[in-house]
Amino acid sequence: MEKPVYILNGPNLNMLGGREPGIYGGKTLVDIETDCREKATALNVSVEFRQSNHEGVLVDWVQEAAEHAAGIIINPGAYGHTSIALHDAIRAIAPLPVIEVHLSNIHAREPFRHQTMIAPVAIGMICGLGHLGYSLALEALAARL
Ligand code: DQA
Repeated sequence: MEKPVYILNGPNLNMLGGREPGIYGGKTLVDIETDCREKATALNVSVEFRQSNHEGVLVDWVQEAAEHAAGIIINPGAYGHTSIALHDAIRAIAPLPVIEVHLSNIHAREPFRHQTMIAPVAIGMICGLGHLGYSLALEALAARL
């Protein structure tokens, strides 16, 4: 069986739906997971969809992906701006393809969101396109696999 694409979500993304909907949209993370599963079926890939508020858990999942995943889509939440540990974990599993996704346009927001520790070690980054970013990332990853 083909390995799944890991779709990893970082801190506070479990709060989507009620969390600043003007910035992040009205969909819950469960809605986004449902959309991803539909898109994955259309693309004939499988997905493993997870969320954690804990940096170390995300690092563990990136390491696990090296053996068990075909690639990673990660919305690292705020850890994307700060986590050298996630940056290093992604470097360590090269050349497994990783795409970073943010719902909001991090470059149009506060300066502390402009930096990403993940983009330099990802094959690409999508931000500002809301929940559609996940589907577009899946499409890009599927085309590459
Ligand atoms: C986010 C952007 C981050 O700056 C923020 O900390 C999040 C969500 C996004 O999807 O737009 O938690 O990753």
